[in-house]
Amino acid sequence: MKTKQKTVRISIIGFGYVGNGVAEVIRRKREAIASKYGIDLKVVGIADLKGVIADEQGLSEEAIQALKAGNNPGDMTGLELIRDIEHDVMVETTPTNVETGEPGLTHIITALDSGRHVVTSNKGPIARDYRMLMDLAAKRGRELKFEASVGGAMPIISLVQDNLAGNGVTSIKGILNGTCNYILTRMADENLPYEHVLKEAQEIGIAETDPTKDVEGVDTAVKLVILANSVFGMNATYKDVTVKGITEITLDALKLADDAGYVIKLIGDVDSDGRLEVAPRLVPKDDPLNVCGTLNVATIKTDLAGEITVIGKGAGPIEAASAVLSDIIGLYS
Ligand SMILES: NC(=O)c1ccc[n+]([C@@H]2O[C@H](COP(=O)([O-])OP(=O)(O)OC[C@H]3O[C@@H](n4cnc5c(N)ncnc54)[C@H](OP(=O)(O)O)[C@@H]3O)[C@@H](O)[C@H]2O)c1
Repeated sequence: MKTKQKTVRISIIGFGYVGNGVAEVIRRKREAIASKYGIDLKVVGIADLKGVIADEQGLSEEAIQALKAGNNPGDMTGLELIRDIEHDVMVETTPTNVETGEPGLTHIITALDSGRHVVTSNKGPIARDYRMLMDLAAKRGRELKFEASVGGAMPIISLVQDNLAGNGVTSIKGILNGTCNYILTRMADENLPYEHVLKEAQEIGIAETDPTKDVEGVDTAVKLVILANSVFGMNATYKDVTVKGITEITLDALKLADDAGYVIKLIGDVDSDGRLEVAPRLVPKDDPLNVCGTLNVATIKTDLAGEITVIGKGAGPIEAASAVLSDIIGLYS
């Protein structure tokens, strides 16, 4: 048990599912983390489109509830919070925009320029401007971490960088989009057509109202770009990925695959030769990549450890917050 405590002051920018999940896990785990790692996590500011609250001593539960109720007296902007309120780590959890990276990009640049470490679940800025952001972080002597942006709770980036340190990674391939996996699983298991399953997935909140980015493979491709740059040291962009989604998968194709001992899955694949590809692929039924429902999976092929496969929940507020929390703890341990 560690006795000497360091206070770590945190801002959360973007207070939706994941932002709330981060506040919740900090609330739940604060004492255990203080006792185990010697860091006292304190949320000192929160910003979303409803308003901004800040208190350098740590936000009260009442202030957080008032913000959620849209009942916020403050007139500070999110950027002022990042710049002017003294803190150590900015957690960026605003919506992903893969074209512009905004608003996350400006939040991350401002935080690094203000001397904050950054932990984010937002794919947009990381996929779009990885090299520039890592260079800026290095220049400012700060860290930028983004485990939650690929595979949610499932550790891939830190697994490779920490636990598999010393290994050469030859490829990473897997299912990085739970919505597509849910649709393909139900089509195959229940013999239901694509449109039917998509509609039901939208009704229960597994697919977005506009599912285009998921079903056309864009979301998986963006995650591959992040892996290509962070794990393989490439300088890839979305344009480097060959992308095909699941919209043309028919019941006949799934049946033919089934008869031959396969399932069809949307697989993202990146290798050390610079090949980045997203496409529906035949996966043998007994392959570790054959996971069902909304689960994500990744097989990491290495020169020393062989193949390592991780399976886990790619989405969910507490699951994504788990990855954010472990990135925060990683900054201090
Ligand atoms: N949900 C998941 O399971 C999951 C898993 C892994 C990664 N992610 C990624 O994590 C990020 C957050 O996801 P989410 O599901 O929490 O999204 P969300 O529920 O839509 O939350 C986004 C929040 O950001 C706020 N926001 C929008 N523009 C802002 C701005 N300029 N300044 C400050 N706040 C702003 C929104 O405010 P309003 O509510 O007022 O619009 C909302 O509170 C996304 O990039 C997503 O791709 C999500």
